Amino acid sequence: MAEGFNKSHLLGIEELSAAEIKFILKTAEAMKEISFREIKKVPTLRGKTIITFFYEPSTRTRTSFEIAAKRLSADTINISASTSSLVKGESLLDTAKNLQAMQPDVLIIRHPHAGAPHFLAKHIEAAVINAGDGMHEHPTQALLDALSIIEKKGGIEGLEIAIIGDIAHSRVARSDILLFTKLGANVRIAGPLTLIPPYAEVLGSKVCECIEEALEGVDVVIALRVQRERLKQVLFPDLREYAIMFGLNRKRLSLTKKDAILMHPGPVNWGVELDPEIMNMDRTIILDQVTNGVAVRMAVLALVAG
Ligand code: CP
Repeated sequence: MAEGFNKSHLLGIEELSAAEIKFILKTAEAMKEISFREIKKVPTLRGKTIITFFYEPSTRTRTSFEIAAKRLSADTINISASTSSLVKGESLLDTAKNLQAMQPDVLIIRHPHAGAPHFLAKHIEAAVINAGDGMHEHPTQALLDALSIIEKKGGIEGLEIAIIGDIAHSRVARSDILLFTKLGANVRIAGPLTLIPPYAEVLGSKVCECIEEALEGVDVVIALRVQRERLKQVLFPDLREYAIMFGLNRKRLSLTKKDAILMHPGPVNWGVELDPEIMNMDRTIILDQVTNGVAVRMAVLALVAG
């Protein structure tokens, strides 16, 4: 285990101290330049075996974990629910125990149920990394968001950060609020009242009555996708109305500080939570976030398995 990070797993931001978060981010800053070398490979995890096991679709998280593992010279195996024996009725625990029997060093899991990675961490020896569990946490997304903010703003402490949209179904919002408040930022949230969870204030964020209040004078804006796949009932009239009430456009962004940055974890529903007119603004750093995802995941893999 590395100095400064003494955990065998990365299950959530909730379990991390501010010092551990800062240590991961410093490690990620050091890892980032490897992706810009001609030969994008270092031997840190040579001989290690890393399995990604995704029960839900993913473009960014899964690809960047695999790229991160390969840049650290680990051997990678990718499993998806649809091509595994889960479709024959094998349980999550049996699946994990069978994978463990092949001696992997790290199991990266995305699962629709909150707590699935925590459950596996209790039952297998490999390091477990949470790549998103239901509506609970997405710790590496929060870490890459933090790295992206630090790059543009020099730090997190004292910043005003607005998170706008479907907070209730968002594991990103939960992990972001936990991380930003641990590092000393003030977090405001806004969205349809039906999509604001009761725990938002408990986590330390301020629930704003309208989007304008949330955006006024902030340093950072994070827009969230409406997670239609998780909506069990109708919680707002329709996407057109949502875009009118809560979509971000140039006019609304003019309420923020002049140098405020705009972020989104992806995938973006252009025309719903973000107006396409702000896609190419200098302050829109969505693709920088994706680049930083590789650096953060290299850091996390090196720290839990290096
Ligand atoms: N941000 C994020 O988790 O994207 P994917 O679902 O594509 O991994």
